[in-house]
Amino acid sequence: MPLKQSVLQILELNRSNFISGEQIASELNVSRAAVWKAIKALENEGYIIHCVTNKGYQLSKDNDLISKEGITPFLKENYKNNNIIVYKTIGSTNDEAKLKALESCPHGSVIIAETQTKGKGRMGRSFYSPAGSGIYMSFILRPKTDASNAVLLTTAAAVAVCRAIKSACGLKTKIKWLNDIYYKDKKICGILSEAVTNCETGMVESVVVGIGINFKTEFSGELMQTAGSLYAGVKPPITRNRLIAEVINQMLDISEDFVYREFLNEYKEDSFVIGQDIVFFRNNIWHNAKAVDIADNGGLVVQYESRQIETLFSGEITIRKKD
Ligand code: BTN
Repeated sequence: MPLKQSVLQILELNRSNFISGEQIASELNVSRAAVWKAIKALENEGYIIHCVTNKGYQLSKDNDLISKEGITPFLKENYKNNNIIVYKTIGSTNDEAKLKALESCPHGSVIIAETQTKGKGRMGRSFYSPAGSGIYMSFILRPKTDASNAVLLTTAAAVAVCRAIKSACGLKTKIKWLNDIYYKDKKICGILSEAVTNCETGMVESVVVGIGINFKTEFSGELMQTAGSLYAGVKPPITRNRLIAEVINQMLDISEDFVYREFLNEYKEDSFVIGQDIVFFRNNIWHNAKAVDIADNGGLVVQYESRQIETLFSGEITIRKKD
């Protein structure tokens, strides 16, 4: 690991204390001058590091840059050695994860970026991904299951994100089918899953689950009507690294046993769609229906005015406002 990274790791592990240059130097078996050089390099990257005579160095609490070193201390012991790659800027973490999946990157690898230049949303839309305020991450998962079950992984991901936000931020979020996450009536997270299937066996070779969270993103213009953030206009009490780590913990936990569907009840409890009148567009026609349940395969069970029941597997719904 380059010295700069090792120094950052020590500073992250000692976030609440000062640590002397001498201590860092002896831990890493390098000179104090080399430590000083690494500190300067980190400052050039944007890290705010307090330096106090006779005390040493401390990462400022205001630091909120995403780094592997900042994420790892919050990971569960069994995920600390997972492959975690952080980019400053990238087109799309999903595209990068798909490439890495083809290069045999192992199950549980995570690709994260500070900003995306071509962030992708569902249904061909783009995903607004500015630097310094959002979380853009993609998991490479290799579930040993067929394509029909793999769809459930997307449903499970929504529950994992809600759990992570509850546990790291103490905030209660809600799910809008299929997998949008809402806080205070605004969408604060979107999930885009892409599967790579082996045509011969019908088995899913890998699934890339991309998660975009508006952590403290500020919106303007049209987006402002529908998009929100966990911490819009307020100082976040935690770092993005902390929330990213919790999303990794929850997502990897849930991906172990998602085929047993135990998370479905939680999905239903967190859903604000069940019981609502909805409208959706299909086969060039707008349909009115009532959302009545979530099926075992993650589909949305709807009932038409004719009382006929149907399960939707994809697409997008809008909740009809009551007069
Ligand atoms: C949606 O709301 O339509 C889904 C948005 C998914 C955005 C995430 S950000 C990380 C990953 N990389 C992408 O290009 N998209 C997903």
